[in-house]
Amino acid sequence: MVKTILVTGGAGFIGSNFIPYFLEKYPEYNIMNLDTLTYAGNLENLREVENHPRYKFIKGNICNRELVEYVFKEYNIMGVIHFAAESHVDNSIANPGVFIETNVYGTYTLIDVARNFWMESPFRYKNDYEGCRFHHISTDEVYGSLGETGFFTENTPYAPNSPYSASKASADMIVRSYFKTYGLNTVITNCSNNYGPKQHNEKLIPTIIRSALNEDPIPIYGDGRNIRDWLYVLDHCRGIDLVFHKGKPGEVYNIGGRNEKTNIEIANKICEVLDKLKPRRNGRSYKELITFVDDRPGHDRRYAIDASKIKSELGWKAKENFESGIVKTVKWYLKKIIKEDNGNISNTTHINAK
Ligand SMILES: NC(=O)c1ccc[n+]([C@@H]2O[C@H](COP(=O)([O-])OP(=O)(O)OC[C@H]3O[C@@H](n4cnc5c(N)ncnc54)[C@H](O)[C@@H]3O)[C@@H](O)[C@H]2O)c1
Repeated sequence: MVKTILVTGGAGFIGSNFIPYFLEKYPEYNIMNLDTLTYAGNLENLREVENHPRYKFIKGNICNRELVEYVFKEYNIMGVIHFAAESHVDNSIANPGVFIETNVYGTYTLIDVARNFWMESPFRYKNDYEGCRFHHISTDEVYGSLGETGFFTENTPYAPNSPYSASKASADMIVRSYFKTYGLNTVITNCSNNYGPKQHNEKLIPTIIRSALNEDPIPIYGDGRNIRDWLYVLDHCRGIDLVFHKGKPGEVYNIGGRNEKTNIEIANKICEVLDKLKPRRNGRSYKELITFVDDRPGHDRRYAIDASKIKSELGWKAKENFESGIVKTVKWYLKKIIKEDNGNISNTTHINAK
């Protein structure tokens, strides 16, 4: 029997990498993508599946309970993979309210509708809905900041530092409580920084590439020594797939590639790749454009994931290494930017470098 899975936020960066991957791998699923298309959602990212017979898009907000109830009933939703979120830390500093609304209230709405639709009472699923799973996509940022050593495990105490990470941590707690209180079949994955095609211009890697190609200053916060643990987006998608299908109910799995890089290393690496793929007219390196700017308030120093649980229990392993992944990524953005230039819209898509 073909089951319908609700994917939220599928027009964003990770969701739009996940949906084509999942559709191709699992002929037994229909995918319903519910996304309100904020500035971060882009249906261009899903062109390749828009006419797929097992894919459907609905424009709508996860905070709209009536709509979410309608979607569950109308399409008989048998599983949820919940990506939808406000996801940019800088925006959460400028405007925290919408983060609380979408990430906390939206997650509550979604999981509460799922519980009512699938369960008749605590710890008792309705006939035909036994085992229906709610998978919440979260971040390593809920654990706060590390010093020079150590890694985040699933047992690291939560210590979120930005309104973004605090809203994600709150959502994680709500999901946890639905497992403990109602016996809903939940799983949570906390992943490190993703990179790859289809990421919004505002994020670090697209910002570096666009700034370089526009001959603008490449803005790097503070001293550039903040460390992130980078994972190629399709490796994250494979981890989600494994946890959704094989993870234990109520469990949390960290996903990360053991690929720690400082922001300045990332900028230098991208400049080196661009120097080869699209040399500057003046023959000099794009590195010259790197400019340090005032640090982000409350900027976490280091994130690093210990992914041994998902590796040992579910057999996950990153397939992409950073050296090849970053070249693929830069090539994808180059192609996109050239296409935009040909469509003569490059001037209207000036990047918000900060
Ligand atoms: N990008 C990363 O490096 C990273 C790392 C770990 C975890 N995550 C988590 O993964 C998920 C996806 O991240 P992303 O980078 O793809 O984000 P994104 O910002 O690129 O996409 C978010 C999507 O959610 C949609 N959306 C926002 N508010 C909504 C609402 N109220 N109702 C319906 N749709 C809404 C947007 O339109 C957009 O399509 C998020 O939950 C994020 O916290 C991201």
